Order: sequence, then C-alpha cells, then structure tokens
Amino acid sequence: MKRYLITGCAGFIGSNFVHYMLKKYEDILLVNLDKLTYAGNLENIREWLDDKRHVFVQGDICDKELVTRLFSEYDFDVVINFAAESHVDRSIRNPEIFVQSNVLGTVNLLQCAKEAWYDQGTWKTGKKYLQVSTDEVYGALGKEGFFMETTPLDPHSPYSSSKASADLFVKAFHDTYGMPVNITRCSNNYGPYQFPEKLIPLMINNVRHHKALPVYGDGMQIRDWLYVEDHCKAIDMVANDGKDGEVYNVGGHNERPNIFIVKTIIEQLHDRLQDDGISEELITHVEDRLGHDRRYGIDPEKIRRDLGWYPETPFEKGIVLTIDWYLEHEEWMKHVTSGEYQTYYEKMYRVV
Ligand code: NAD
Ligand code: DAU
Repeated sequence: MKRYLITGCAGFIGSNFVHYMLKKYEDILLVNLDKLTYAGNLENIREWLDDKRHVFVQGDICDKELVTRLFSEYDFDVVINFAAESHVDRSIRNPEIFVQSNVLGTVNLLQCAKEAWYDQGTWKTGKKYLQVSTDEVYGALGKEGFFMETTPLDPHSPYSSSKASADLFVKAFHDTYGMPVNITRCSNNYGPYQFPEKLIPLMINNVRHHKALPVYGDGMQIRDWLYVEDHCKAIDMVANDGKDGEVYNVGGHNERPNIFIVKTIIEQLHDRLQDDGISEELITHVEDRLGHDRRYGIDPEKIRRDLGWYPETPFEKGIVLTIDWYLEHEEWMKHVTSGEYQTYYEKMYRVV
C-alpha cells in the first residue's frame, strides 16, 4: 500500500485530488495536512472524513515538529505539496504570507522528507516528492508561442515569485542531494469547490445574484483553462511514473480571453435559469490588476509523449459541469462567502 502525505487538500485542487484518488484506488493511505485557511474547507472532503484510507490533520506545512512526527508515524512513500496561498490579487496586497507558506513551507517539507528518506548518502527506494506548481512562474506570453518546460522562469507577481522560489528549492534538493522530485506546472483550473475569489466561481455567483461582474481592464487577457479532474489525473501519473528530477507542464490547449469566459457564463445561466435579469449589462470593466500577465499558454507535449496524459474534458463540457455543480451547491457557496469573504470582497471591489 502506498502512503501519501498530501498537503493543502481541503482547498480547491487538493480536495478534487482526494475525491479522484479515493475513487480510483482501494489500497492507499492519504494523510491530508491542511491549515484550513480561508481557502480550506472541510466540507470539500466531507464524504471522506470517516474513510480509513484518509486521515485529515489540521496543521501548517511550516511546522517542523508536526511534519517530522507525521513522517515517523506514517513512513510516507510520496509527498505531494498542494498547500499554498494561491490568489494573485491577495499576493499583491499582502506578499509576506506567500513567502511564509509557499517558500518556507515548501523548504520545510523538503527538509523533513530528506531527514526521513536520506541516510548516509543514500535515498530509500520508491520515494517521491512532487511539487504542484503553476504556469505563472514562466511570466507572460505575447500573441505567439507557448510555455515549454525549458522556458526560463520570469515570474511577475508576488504569488508567482513565491511559487518560482519554491520550484528552485525543489530543484536544489534534487541537484544537491539527489532527491527524487518532480514539479508539475499547470495552467488555470476550474471545476467544483473552487473558492469564489477566482474568476469562474466569482462570476457564476455574481451572475446568479445579478451583481456587477468586475472584468479587469479590457478583459482580453488570455488564460489556458483546464478542468480540475484532468489536472488531478496528471498529478497521479507524474507521482507514479514521472522521471526523477523532471518538470512536466500540464495544460489543455484551451486558451480563452477572460471576457469570453464571462459572456459564456452569462449566456449559460440566462438560458438555464430563464432569467432576463441576467444579461451582459452586468459586465463592469474595473481597474486592471497591477502587473497583469497578458497571456498564458502551455505546451503539454512532454507529459503527453512521456506519460500518455491528455485532457479528457473539453471546455464546453467542463463549464456546463461546473455551472451545474455551483447551482446544486448553493449552501456551500453561502457558507464560503460568509465572514472573511465579505470583508475581502468589499476591500477588493470597492471600485465597482
Ligand atoms: P486553494 O487556495 O484553493 O487551496 C490551498 C489550500 O492550502 C487550502 O486548503 C489552504 O488551507 C491550504 N494551505 C495554505 N497555506 C497552508 C499552510 N501553510 N499549511 C497547510 N495548508 C495550507 O488553492 P488551489 O487553487 O487548490 O491550488 C493548489 C495548488 O495548486 C497551489 O500550490 C497552487 O499554486 C497550484 N496551482 C493552482 C492552479 C489553479 O488554477 N487554481 C493552477 C496551477 C497550480
Ligand atoms: O495559471 C495558473 C494560476 O491560475 C494559478 O497558479 C493560480 O493559483 C490561480 O489563482 C490562477 O491565477 P489567475 O490570476 O490566472 O486566476 P484568477 O481566477 O484570479 O484570474 C483569471 C483571470 O481573470 C485573470 O486574467 C484576472 C481576471 N479576473 C479575475 C477576477 C478574480 C477578472 O477580470 N476579474 C476578477 O474579478
């Protein structure tokens, strides 16, 4: 039985990963370490809280004593680090916590894994550390071209700088000590359980309630959208079969301008709810994000060629599944948008 330490898996992608893995594997142990920040929510993994294959531990990846204790208790084979502060806008307002969790937290996990797995110059066999990273570490693209694994790192925001720093520490542990590592760099995810500070769930929630739809700048920035389950599949494949030391880009060749995404959500919800209060008049162009990256686009050829990964969910299907999920989980949305979210929203969108 493989034993995994998975971190940050009460958040969006991590909780989808828990669902994916526990539906796929009978003989597995997932120890899920999450601090439960504003972005982590036990409701996201409620159905697995009593499952003997899943142990939830509330705690910080920066806590050396706790992580060391978990390693000695569970003798992990694989560490997958999802835990991070993940929102670019928040990093622009408050970068320090991004350094703390994303950089120092990653270094702590690497160091604890090394202490557990490395003895007198030799690594125990069958071990793997996987860092869940982002295409944002590559910076921004012009009209042409794609990010390759060989594209130089050129992060712009405090968030992407913290993720790039973490990636460099992962690389350092491989290059210096020979640690068996992989890094995945994925494009924008969407799907169930995404916190509504991010474009797609924020727009779905605002459209439903006839609230202004805050589009940054001209709305012609391009993101490469991937349904979250396809990302989970890629992480599972890399954790099992990734070649030590390699980086794998993950993306679906699904580039869309933000304004297209917003108009699609308006159209879908208008038709689904038969509600004439839902129209493009809700779109409000607001001040642009500082240092806003214009375009991201991933070349996923390496993971396709080497591991046989491909995205299964086309955007047209994924967006319908996603809208359906949010319509069916109104209580979840109410719950996560109460409290801290209101304060954040008022500060962030006071211009609207
Ligand atoms: P999220 O913000 O939804 O969830 C992050 C989770 O990490 C939360 O459950 C939070 O409680 C936990 N966490 C934060 N700091 C912690 C700490 N110090 N110790 C323990 N737990 C902590 O993020 P997400 O969108 O699910 O992203 C997960 C990972 O994937 C991140 O590393 C992110 O950089 C990366 N990523 C995200 C996307 C995307 O589109 N969302 C794309 C590519 C890569
Ligand atoms: O590319 C991968 C990254 O995608 C991940 O590493 C990040 O964790 C994740 O948050 C996401 O970053 P983005 O900044 O691209 O995602 P966000 O949903 O915040 O914004 C998507 C685009 O929509 C971006 O161009 C900004 C724009 N936007 C966003 C919000 C929240 C708006 O126009 N209005 C908004 O209200």
